[in-house]
Amino acid sequence: MTTQKNNTSAAKLQAVKGMNDILPKDMPYWQFFETTAQATLKQFCYENIRTPILEHTDVFVRGIGEVTDIVEKEMYTFIDQLNQESLTLRPEGTAACIRAVNEHHLIYDGAKKLWYQGPMFRHERPQRGRYRQFHQLGIEAIGFKNPDADAELIAFCASLFERLGILKNLRLEINSLGDSSHRQNHKVALLAYFNQHLDELDDDSKKRLSSNPLRILDSKNPDMQTLIENAPRLIDYVDGEAREHFTQFTNLLDALGIVYQLNPRLVRGLDYYNRTVFEWITSELGAQGTVCGGGRYDPLIAMMGGKDAPAVGLAMGIERILELVKQNQTIETPAVDIYIAYEAIAQNLAMQTAQFLRNIKELTQVYLHLNPKESQSFKAQFKKANQMQAKFVLILGEEEFKSNIFVLKNLLNGEQQTFKTREEVAAFVLNTKAVTTTIY
Ligand code: HAM
Repeated sequence: MTTQKNNTSAAKLQAVKGMNDILPKDMPYWQFFETTAQATLKQFCYENIRTPILEHTDVFVRGIGEVTDIVEKEMYTFIDQLNQESLTLRPEGTAACIRAVNEHHLIYDGAKKLWYQGPMFRHERPQRGRYRQFHQLGIEAIGFKNPDADAELIAFCASLFERLGILKNLRLEINSLGDSSHRQNHKVALLAYFNQHLDELDDDSKKRLSSNPLRILDSKNPDMQTLIENAPRLIDYVDGEAREHFTQFTNLLDALGIVYQLNPRLVRGLDYYNRTVFEWITSELGAQGTVCGGGRYDPLIAMMGGKDAPAVGLAMGIERILELVKQNQTIETPAVDIYIAYEAIAQNLAMQTAQFLRNIKELTQVYLHLNPKESQSFKAQFKKANQMQAKFVLILGEEEFKSNIFVLKNLLNGEQQTFKTREEVAAFVLNTKAVTTTIY
């Protein structure tokens, strides 16, 4: 096995570039997101699915499309040395989810609404809001043909973003990619247009002219934006049932009072989409402002070997959402309810009392001072309790131990109370209603 030279010496080991540690100080935000998202998902009756982080490379090549940025340049792919299989760290969740749905025949008895959350991997150039390991919450509504499923996904986002306090910072952009015949007609027009402007195309786009001209519209190259702006619009080629589907979708959004903008340039970067596509975007995060994207992908399930079933889904980038949440509010680590400070003689009692208090589910945080023998004077213990913003300190010193009493000090108002039993201590703390009831 080969390791990097500086990793074999005593040099400090570092995380891979673009792959971040999530530290305890960030955890209140993650837990706020997760508890809020899970409560909202439950209300909308989505079921959780968890798929492996590694899949056969084909899952993504067939699922996402060969001529996409993700498959062409961004996948972490390697050959499993044991059996020479090509494996890939998942760059997104949809293809993996559909692989699992097909493998386990999950829609044999009807449509399913699924959600997942976890790390995804893309070999992109790291910058603010763009990482090589990032986290998505994804939802897939599988087996639903009509636009009410599309609208329900948007309604879910609106509820979740409102609860996270960021709906006001986001705009919803929508478009329709129509059906394959519409995209074919548009492609002819697009090819004619780009061929007339060959000298304005960058190298990437020239390559895509023959393989996948729609992807040229996805280009972020600033020099090509005017060219892209004036290109034929796919939405103008969408008619018949697909047009009707889009009209019903927008009618439902209107009925829900959800504000949106039609963006005819919105094509999304993955090949599996048809009909509805959408993105939730903010202008407050710099260049990486898309916090959520999705759309309909009716042909994908059959393309991946399953039965012919329509579907629509989305995924949101949790890091981007949390950055927006942080700009709006501070979420503190919840304070400790009871800090148990004790002297060595009372160690058994302190441990037993901590165990008793921790068995009361309403007391979410009971901190037991460890190591009272090693220079941990009461003064030092109180200092720590204050630093941790504990609400109460339960004092079990030699004196209290010998007199068989529990002394409880309220650090918020300085009042001190004496109790005979630990049950009385617990009842008093719970009665003050100062305990933390939410875990995040
Ligand atoms: P996507 O647009 O590739 O769609 O990714 C969804 C979201 O993931 C983006 O809007 C962004 O917030 C976040 N994201 C993507 N790449 C990065 C990155 N390198 N660093 C940080 N955040 C990132 C999908 O993945 C589709 N599977 C969505 C979907 C589900 N469509 C249908 N069902």
